Amino acid sequence: MCGIVGYVGPKSTLEVLLGGLRRLEYRGYDSAGVSVISGTGLDTRKKAGKLDNLIAEITNHPLPDAHIGIGHTRWATHGAPTDGNAHPHIGGEAAKLSLIHNGIIENFYELKAELVEAGTKFASETDSEVAAHLVAAEFEKTGDLPTAFTNVVKRLRGAFTLLAIHEDQPDVVLAARRNSPLVIGLGDGENFLGSDVAAFVEHTKRAISVGQDEIVILRAGEIEIRTFDGAPVTPVEFEVSWDASAASKGGWSSFMAKEIADQPQAVADTLMGRLASDGSVRLSEIDGLSAEDIKNIDRIIMVACGTASYACDVAKYAIEKFSRIPVQVELSHEFRYRDPIVTPNTLIVAVSQSGETMDTLMATRYAKEAGAKVLAICNTQGATLARESDAVIYTHAGPEVAVASTKALVAQITAGYLLALFLAAGRGATPKAELARLGKELLQMPESVAEVLDGLEGIRQLGKDMANAKSVLFLGRNVGFPVAMEGALKLKELAYIHAEGFAAGELKHGPIALIEEGQPVIVIVPSQRDEDSLHPKVISNIQEIRARGARVIAIAEEGDNQVGDYAEHVVFVPKAESIFASLLTVIPLQVFALELSTAKGLDVDQPRNLAKSVTVE
Ligand code: F6R
Repeated sequence: MCGIVGYVGPKSTLEVLLGGLRRLEYRGYDSAGVSVISGTGLDTRKKAGKLDNLIAEITNHPLPDAHIGIGHTRWATHGAPTDGNAHPHIGGEAAKLSLIHNGIIENFYELKAELVEAGTKFASETDSEVAAHLVAAEFEKTGDLPTAFTNVVKRLRGAFTLLAIHEDQPDVVLAARRNSPLVIGLGDGENFLGSDVAAFVEHTKRAISVGQDEIVILRAGEIEIRTFDGAPVTPVEFEVSWDASAASKGGWSSFMAKEIADQPQAVADTLMGRLASDGSVRLSEIDGLSAEDIKNIDRIIMVACGTASYACDVAKYAIEKFSRIPVQVELSHEFRYRDPIVTPNTLIVAVSQSGETMDTLMATRYAKEAGAKVLAICNTQGATLARESDAVIYTHAGPEVAVASTKALVAQITAGYLLALFLAAGRGATPKAELARLGKELLQMPESVAEVLDGLEGIRQLGKDMANAKSVLFLGRNVGFPVAMEGALKLKELAYIHAEGFAAGELKHGPIALIEEGQPVIVIVPSQRDEDSLHPKVISNIQEIRARGARVIAIAEEGDNQVGDYAEHVVFVPKAESIFASLLTVIPLQVFALELSTAKGLDVDQPRNLAKSVTVE
C-alpha cells in the first residue's frame, strides 16, 4: 500500500522518481506526487488518479532540474483520493519541508489537535500531513533536521515509512521505518530509497533493508542508519537477484498476461537446485531450523491472506499426505486476534509474495512471541517477513507487478510441495522409493505448465463470450477446492462480478440452491487414473448441477473419457500426479478472468480499490 521513492545524486531526479513510481504503481494508484529541491527551492506536483495524471501535470507545469527528491503513489486510507490528499505534504508556514508517508499514524487525532491549537492550517484530510507540520516545527526549534525528524517519529504510533526533505538542507533525504517497508539502494555517488527494490533496480542491484524503528540519513555519497534511540546501526548489504527487465511488460498487453506466461519459469526456478532426481529435497535456506526442530514439530499452522492462503490450502493436502504432520491453514488476520494455541513445537509457515503483508507479519510476530519457530515462504528479497522469520524458502517467481497474483501463486504452491517432500523425508513418513517417484513427477511440472499455456484458446474465447455474466461459480475437490476458490477470487478482483468457489462435496449442503438455468459453473475435475479417485464423485456433482440448468465448463485431465459427455466445454490439461495438478488446473482460471476482464474494458493490472502489497491491518 503506497509506494515511496527517494533519490539524491547527479541523475535527473524527476526521471529517477517517475521511473521508480512507475515500478511501484502496483502498490496503489489513487494519486501520485513528487517533490524536488533545486536552486530555486522546493517544488511539488501531485495529482489524483494514476501516475499518468501526474505526468500530464508535470508536462503542463514543468519542474526545474534537481538532484534530490521524493515521490509517492497512494492507496488511500485517511482522506479520499483527491489532489489535496495526494502526497507529498508540505509542512510549516514557510512551506520548506516536504514529506511522504506509507502506513497509518494511529495517534494522528491527538497530534492534529495539538497543531490546530497552535494555529497550524491543514491543507488535507490525511494523517500524514500531521507528521509534515510536526517535523517542520521541530526543525525550527532545533535547527537540525535529523534531530527534528527523530524527535517526531518517536512520538508517532502505528505503521509508517516516512521520507522527508527540507529546502534549508538540500543535500539530505531523511527516512524512518516502523511496521512498513523501506529499502536503500546503494549507488556510486548516488543513493536511493524505495518501498521495495523495484523502485531502483534499474539503477543499482546493491541494497540494504532498513530494520524496524530505524532512521536513515541519506546523502549522495554517504548513508547513516540509526535506531529511533540514536544507536548506530551497521547495515547489511545484499544483492538484488531480480533483473530490471523482469519487471517490464516486454511486449505483452499487460503485466498479468506476461506473468501468466512466466509461470513455467517460476515453477522451474523455485525447484532449481532444491529437488534432485532421486526425489531428495535440499532446502539449505532453512538451516535456521535444526533437524531437532523438525523432528519436534507436532503441528504446522500456515498463515497467509488471499491468494497466498490458497497456496497454503494446497500445501496442507501435500504436507499431511506425505509427512503426516497435522496442518492448519489460517487467514493471518483471523489467527492473530483469536487467542490461538501456539506452542514451541508448532511450526508456523507464513506465505507471502511481498513479505510485507501487515496481517501476516502481525500473525508471525504473535506466534514468535508464543515461542513458535517461523518459516517464511516469500518472493521478495530483503522483505520484512523474510528478515523476521527463523528460516525462509524464497520462491523465485521474479517481480510480480500485476496486482492480481498469478506466478507468485504457482511458485508458492511449488515451494509448498517441496516442503512437503522435505518434511516427509525428515520424518521418514513416506518410503524413499515413493519420494523418488514423486520428486520425478514434480520435476516434470514446469514442462506441463508450459503445455497448459499452449492449449488455452478455448477458455480465452469463453472468457470473451462471457463478458456479460453476472455470476460464475467454481467447484473442486481436494487440491481442486483451493483452485476453485482462487478462480473465484481472480474473477471478483479483475472482472468485478460475483464469483464463489465451493468444495464440490458441499454443494448439496446449500450452494446448489444458487443453480438456475444458464448459471455458469467451472468445475475442476480430478484425474480418473487414481485408485481412490474422486473423479466419479465430481462427475455426479456435475450431473446434479446440469440437471438444474447449469452451464458446465470442466477443467479435466487429458484422456478423461467421461467428462465430455456432461460438460458443455472441457479444457484439458496434461496428465500429472493428482496432488500436483493444482499447478495446471489453476492456469485456465487465471486466463479466463484475464480475458473476461479485458473484454469488459477493465484494467487487469490495476483493478479498482486494490493495491498489491497490503501493508496496513
Ligand atoms: C490476489 C492477491 C492477494 C494476495 C494477498 C497476500 O490476487 O494477490 O490476495 O495474495 O494480498 O499478499 P502477499 O502474498 O504479498 O502476502
